[in-house]
Amino acid sequence: MISINGKTRTCGLVGNPVEHTLSPMIHNTLASLQDHNLVYIPFLVEKEKLIEAIKGAFGLNILGMNVTIPYKSDIIPLLCEIDELAENIGAVNTLVRMEDGFKGYNTDMLGLLRAMNTEGILLKGEDIIILGAGGAARAVAFLCASNGANRIFLLNRTLEKAEQVANEVNHCFHTSSIVPMKMSDHHLLPDKHYLAIQGTSVGLSPNISEAPIEDKSFYKKIHTGYDLIYNPVKTKFMSNVEQGGGRAFNGLKMLLYQGVIAYELWNQVSISESQAEYVYMQMMKEIEKKINE
Ligand code: ATR
Repeated sequence: MISINGKTRTCGLVGNPVEHTLSPMIHNTLASLQDHNLVYIPFLVEKEKLIEAIKGAFGLNILGMNVTIPYKSDIIPLLCEIDELAENIGAVNTLVRMEDGFKGYNTDMLGLLRAMNTEGILLKGEDIIILGAGGAARAVAFLCASNGANRIFLLNRTLEKAEQVANEVNHCFHTSSIVPMKMSDHHLLPDKHYLAIQGTSVGLSPNISEAPIEDKSFYKKIHTGYDLIYNPVKTKFMSNVEQGGGRAFNGLKMLLYQGVIAYELWNQVSISESQAEYVYMQMMKEIEKKINE
């Protein structure tokens, strides 16, 4: 634990609500592992106070911020600069202090990419299925298209939304690699082996017995399943992937690495795999504690 003094730097989270966040644990653990004189604090901000809050944070010499629900898009006009991926997605979760204001990044998606890379999953040349077409799945579609995926099938319950996301991403990258499909047409997918990224809200606690697709023949086509959900830690989608013979991961490492990357950007350091693993163990403990509360 650091002792706060005149040289302590401050980082924080802006959102509403913020009380269930794991980010203070992630960043304060990283600060202690790095021996940095830095504290990370959650800030509950009301919508009409967002502009003041960001201006105030800059005025207070705050080093970096995370931004969470419901401000990931509202924050964009308040930035002095924005990273290209975040701009394409239209969502920012990390602010890095620059000379004239904050620069915005989307470390949620950079975190997903790093989490997958650490498991040996690469997007380049992959045939990918994305389940969902909401905010999270749309961001994943941008990530996959910008990292050289081969074909990307975007499956959604409501076809129109899948079409809209596919058009947007294809237009952005001058490609036709994103193919929209109705989720119930999954049996029409070409017979290949896919990386599947689950981006719907189906299976989230308390609806832990649900998966967006139940059909066993679908899961036979999946070599790796990545669920963005981490509560529960093993979703029905993940169990279905494993029963079909594939490897399955939850979204907890994405959460870990979105924090790790934000911390690296703020402090211009590299967090090692073993340090990230240590933070991950602390996150698991915290989650177990919350479950038992
Ligand atoms: P987020 O911002 O977390 O992505 P969202 O924008 O509300 O959340 O998107 C939720 C996603 O889960 C959508 O793709 C939604 O499908 P529809 O576009 O058809 O609504 C999907 N979803 C939610 N409940 C579902 C269900 N019971 N079966 C299949 N898909 C579902």
